[in-house]
Amino acid sequence: MPNQLTISSINVVFSEDEDVTTAKDRPVRPGELEDLGVSKEFLIANEFEGKLQQTLLLSRQEEVVIALGLGDQPLTAADARATAATLWHSTKHLDSLTSSLPLSIAAELGNETALQATVEGLLLASYRFDELKGTPEAEPKLDRINLLVADGVDSETALRKAEAVASAIALSRDLVNRPGGSLSALQLADEAVSVAENTGLEIEIWDKQRLLNERCGGIIGVNAGSLEEPRLVRMTWRPKGESRGTIHFVGKGITFDTGGLNLKTFEGMKEMKIDMGGAAAVIGAMSAIAAYAPDLTVIGTCCCTDNQPSPTATKPGDVLKIRNGKTVEVLNTDAEGRLVLADGLSIAVEDQPDLIVDLATLTGACMVALGQRYAGLMGNNEAAIAKVQTAAALANERVWHLPLPNEYRKQLDSEIADIQNIGSGRFAGALVAGLFLQEFVGESPWVHLDIAGPVTTDENEAEFVKGATGFGVRTLIEIVNNW
Ligand code: BES
Ligand code: MN
Ligand code: ZN
Repeated sequence: MPNQLTISSINVVFSEDEDVTTAKDRPVRPGELEDLGVSKEFLIANEFEGKLQQTLLLSRQEEVVIALGLGDQPLTAADARATAATLWHSTKHLDSLTSSLPLSIAAELGNETALQATVEGLLLASYRFDELKGTPEAEPKLDRINLLVADGVDSETALRKAEAVASAIALSRDLVNRPGGSLSALQLADEAVSVAENTGLEIEIWDKQRLLNERCGGIIGVNAGSLEEPRLVRMTWRPKGESRGTIHFVGKGITFDTGGLNLKTFEGMKEMKIDMGGAAAVIGAMSAIAAYAPDLTVIGTCCCTDNQPSPTATKPGDVLKIRNGKTVEVLNTDAEGRLVLADGLSIAVEDQPDLIVDLATLTGACMVALGQRYAGLMGNNEAAIAKVQTAAALANERVWHLPLPNEYRKQLDSEIADIQNIGSGRFAGALVAGLFLQEFVGESPWVHLDIAGPVTTDENEAEFVKGATGFGVRTLIEIVNNW
């Protein structure tokens, strides 16, 4: 279980049952500063203007009052989460908290969204990865939170969804934060099995023998240097009634990327436990699907193995045969993500889905181009691209559309196989990787998200905590919600 505040600490209070003005935090608009019962001079002296995410602690006799700025622009759900995260950080040392934040922002966001966003912000901000600490740090004290909401809000649904999303993101963060030595392909698959057991999703796991029988030469080839078996995970949400369509998510699940025989340097290798971030996003999103119960078929496929050098490893120049029959000359064993995804995408295509989205920490080049905040987005279908962009915007996850130029495709021409796994040129590494993947999706509408940058963050900010972000989980959930 991820270490994060749970929903059991949260108590919803309907505003009719409580005098709202006594709420022990007071979200304020810049125009309402007078209502706080302290002088404007005092607030100005403390540089509190009610700006978004500004806080000011006011101690009064027995209780602490926190002025929480809401700014003067309409709030988005993402602003609300960030504001709730700020509230968590300024009150986590207290025993209990009563907040009217969901009520204060209900007019602009709607009651349920306001409550859901507040709860998500509180839960996510409290996330900590401490399962490997020998001496545990002190737990934050705050575990009784009363949230004031408008009368008649369907608080149960809002809380259930908040819990589902926050746990999905926490799970994804835990999987990414876990070192390679603590998360083999087998262990990653076991995590997916637990998710399926808890949510009632269908699950199928392919072991090495099954992958061989199924002709998954990409995954088998990347796994060739490893002492651990590979796994392919396939999770399925099937609606009770008729299905309106099929969406297939595919995740890169390299539990540790040494580069293989094309061994990475110290600098390049030290963070490579994050190389299953795509699979973590898919497993996380699948864990939340049941809470939304869409009338769609949603499939999540994760291609899991580590990438190791060894006398048995795939050697530069070796040729692998992918599930769909195409052969690949492996000129660089460090371009392994596209090899496992080639199998995963070939499988996804087989059920003729309405949309395929793959997520992968695929290229350093994408980070060079877009930095740590933006995922690179590429695709073969305008409508599919637009859908994923809309979902990402709703999720407040930054994506940037990059091209898949036909002119660059010839860089992947191989002398001896159908295609080679790296481009012959020096440039546009993220696009060349995208062009490689495109060879395995046929005519299916497909979008590729290169999440090498946003899979982690170096900053504690809003509801994000240093380390894994859970990037992608929200976008995938929104794709399903808005289909
Ligand atoms: N997992 C890496 C990409 C990566 C790099 C993710 C940095 C996150 C941070 C991927 O398998 C890889 O090694 N890509 C190579 C491709 C190259 C050999 C064509 C790269 O980006 O250098
Ligand atoms: Mn690599
Ligand atoms: Zn990799």
